[in-house]
Amino acid sequence: MKSGLRVAVVGATGAVGREMLQVLSDRHFPCASVRAFASPNSVGKLLDFGEDTLRVESLESISDPSVFDLALFSCGSERSLVWAPRFARSGCIVIDNSSAWRNHDKVPLVVPEVNAQDLDDASLGVIAVPNCSTIGLVQAIAPLHRNQPLRRVVVTTFQSVSGSGRKGIEELDRQTRQLFNAQGTEPKVYPKRIAFNVLPLIGEPDVDGYTAEERKLMTETLKILGDDQIQVIATATRVPVFVGHALSVVVEPVKAIDVDDARALIADHPGVLVTDAESVMNAPTPEDIAGEDLTLVGRVRRDPSSETGLALWIVSDNLRKGAALNAVQIAETMIQRRLLAPKHKGRQETQ
Ligand SMILES: NC(=O)c1ccc[n+]([C@@H]2O[C@H](COP(=O)([O-])OP(=O)(O)OC[C@H]3O[C@@H](n4cnc5c(N)ncnc54)[C@H](OP(=O)(O)O)[C@@H]3O)[C@@H](O)[C@H]2O)c1
Repeated sequence: MKSGLRVAVVGATGAVGREMLQVLSDRHFPCASVRAFASPNSVGKLLDFGEDTLRVESLESISDPSVFDLALFSCGSERSLVWAPRFARSGCIVIDNSSAWRNHDKVPLVVPEVNAQDLDDASLGVIAVPNCSTIGLVQAIAPLHRNQPLRRVVVTTFQSVSGSGRKGIEELDRQTRQLFNAQGTEPKVYPKRIAFNVLPLIGEPDVDGYTAEERKLMTETLKILGDDQIQVIATATRVPVFVGHALSVVVEPVKAIDVDDARALIADHPGVLVTDAESVMNAPTPEDIAGEDLTLVGRVRRDPSSETGLALWIVSDNLRKGAALNAVQIAETMIQRRLLAPKHKGRQETQ
């Protein structure tokens, strides 16, 4: 038998799940076996995994999750709420991409470059991956916050359709073709046409006018940075881009940070590349980042409307760093910290 972890990829046929298989293979993740799970509709479908092919199994068919060491979940909150505890109770570590567990006291919400230490306190055996926009945001602002605590963050997102999964990708593709063929378009996934348009709401607004997508940025940022004093206001929009989320951000530290120092602080943070910019053409776009692992930051500049404010522009691949890559990096970090090892061979194997 190959040495390594026995891994379940749950939601393997989805936009994130397929990227998960790609990332596991790209990074030569130490697995003894990988099995792919999805809904009963996908049973028997074949998925590429490096040079191998995986046959999709039904999640419902799993009677004994203890046969796995690690489960990577990307199958929506409803399923995560039911299945994550079943896997965790059997001794399997669950890393979940949905929003189901992110606000739970006993569940670490982790971007490894920012708060890997929180993994030491995963008593439930479930670790949550933050929202895809939150990950890009904290990657860029954590080094500023460590230098001078941030008292306020104003963020507007420009989120690609792959953030809604396969159905979002299909809707933009279909509507674009229809428009080029002079046909009418009927919105199915989004409330209005997404092709050649910008939608100023992702989901329904609550009584205060904020959507769940915006609330995620407003709460998750505080949990990851470990500071509930930061004021965050978010506006989340959907744009006709297939892959890659962009964020326009203004931060207000308690004391001013020089612009060059801010660029240097962000550039020193692992996983981030500052692309500033004598030329505006160097400002990063979703096209630059699709399929890549780094978070790109550009247009770092002083905010003249506030004493200490700084403005910046962030882009990252929502399927990779925003979901699959971050999940795999969490698993890799847990292996390094001896929090995850093959159960059948004991912890020695990761030393
Ligand atoms: N897309 C992103 O950028 C992104 C980023 C961060 C987090 N997330 C989160 O990741 C999760 C997956 O998102 P996605 O974009 O990959 O969605 P998606 O493309 O719609 O894929 C959903 C996956 O869930 C599976 N699934 C649905 N019902 C199931 C059931 N009853 N049992 C087992 N599997 C079931 C689907 O299987 P079938 O193919 O068989 O239906 C598919 O594999 C969501 O919780 C989402 O919020 C997404």
